[in-house]
Amino acid sequence: TSQYARDASGCVTVDSVPVTEIARRHGSPSYVVSERTFRARARGFREAFEAALHPLGVQSAVYYASKALLTTAVARWAADEGLNIDTASGGELAVALAAGIPGERIALHGNNKSAEEIAAALDAGVGRIVVDSLAEIDLVAGLARDRGTRAPVMIRVTPGVHASTHEFIATAHEDQKFGLSLNAEDGDSPALQAVAACLGASDALELRGLHCHIGSQIFAAEGFGQAAERVLALRETVAERWGVSLPELDLGGGHGVAYTAADTPRDVADIAGDLASLLSSALRDSRLPVPHLSFEPGRFIAGPSGCTVYTVGTVKTVTVSPGVRRRYVSVDGGMSDNARPVLYDANYTAVLGSRVSQEPPVLSRVVGKHCESGDVVVKDVYLPGDVHAGDLLVVPVTGAYCWSLASNYNWLARPGIVAVAPDGSTREIVRRESVTDLLARDTGI
Ligand code: LLP
Repeated sequence: TSQYARDASGCVTVDSVPVTEIARRHGSPSYVVSERTFRARARGFREAFEAALHPLGVQSAVYYASKALLTTAVARWAADEGLNIDTASGGELAVALAAGIPGERIALHGNNKSAEEIAAALDAGVGRIVVDSLAEIDLVAGLARDRGTRAPVMIRVTPGVHASTHEFIATAHEDQKFGLSLNAEDGDSPALQAVAACLGASDALELRGLHCHIGSQIFAAEGFGQAAERVLALRETVAERWGVSLPELDLGGGHGVAYTAADTPRDVADIAGDLASLLSSALRDSRLPVPHLSFEPGRFIAGPSGCTVYTVGTVKTVTVSPGVRRRYVSVDGGMSDNARPVLYDANYTAVLGSRVSQEPPVLSRVVGKHCESGDVVVKDVYLPGDVHAGDLLVVPVTGAYCWSLASNYNWLARPGIVAVAPDGSTREIVRRESVTDLLARDTGI
């Protein structure tokens, strides 16, 4: 169930806490995350795949893709709900470790990991390093040998499936920086070369399996199935050629969420069910032991758990063309706290949060306060005709890739993240930046 409702006075509430109260206690703008929703989505995702896969004898695990939203509290919520943590840099790894997540429950990703990041991962005893190039295989092996350990690795393969929001296109997918291709120009494919390199360095590397990730904000289930078929086929080839049964497959993340009413993602239980039927026929045809499967959802868990509360400032109506007018509603944040409209042309919606109004709705554009005309928060939304300075707007589904992509453009202080606990208490899990923070790294020289 949604974290949102309205109280008797018409104010939007997040898990029963009025947004006016949140803004009064913690300021505006604020990111507001519902701990209950985050936990429920994390648990729900894990349980959906377990329910679909366990009847086939397939064990599954979920690695929360922490790039979507990561603080020590968020990492602990995910871990408490039985998820592992996927990190994509030394910084994310450090935050996960600071949260007390055991190394073996952490994965490290990245197409250009530094030796320092790999060393930190090995020293933390991470559960897996997902290698992304042939050179990296040598680097990880060398660092593992230096430490007298064996590094658990997965190979990231390029599954040749490009998935976008409403469709997936099986072309032009090779031309990107991630992973090792399944296609060979001549001789072995880069993916097979990587398998050979890992098996050849078995003193230092423990090849756990294969990884793929087809993209992000995906609604079409076919892409996941097609990717799964391709990594399963590679697993068969590896077994035929080297007599090795790779125990694990990771199918990545990318499960889409609804930002506006126009978005209709498939239910995660249906996606899990489709994967289970595909697997059951693949497993029937295979003599290999069933693989262990894992997934890396980020947005699915974090996105709908969070919203942003803004305060309205200037309201201006402009004439677009003769007889056509547009109302610009400015808020106290913008592209520095949500870069996604600018970066990806992403759509959001907004509601008047601090009160209800009987005024007829007016087509509005919610914009930020940055010195850039593209600084749009919500391109088109109907808001009551009397929206005015001091009103609060709530923009839902900002839990993923908003705080993590935030900047200090125009030296705006980044908002804090307010967590609403299941008991209705609120606290800042990351505090708002102050002018002191803004100046902290300016050496003054
Ligand atoms: N696993 C890997 C290897 C990934 O590269 C990603 C996302 C994920 C998992 C999680 O994907 P998710 O389930 O969150 O879709 N900044 C963009 C999204 C970039 C995603 C990058 N990789 C946005 O705001 O839409």
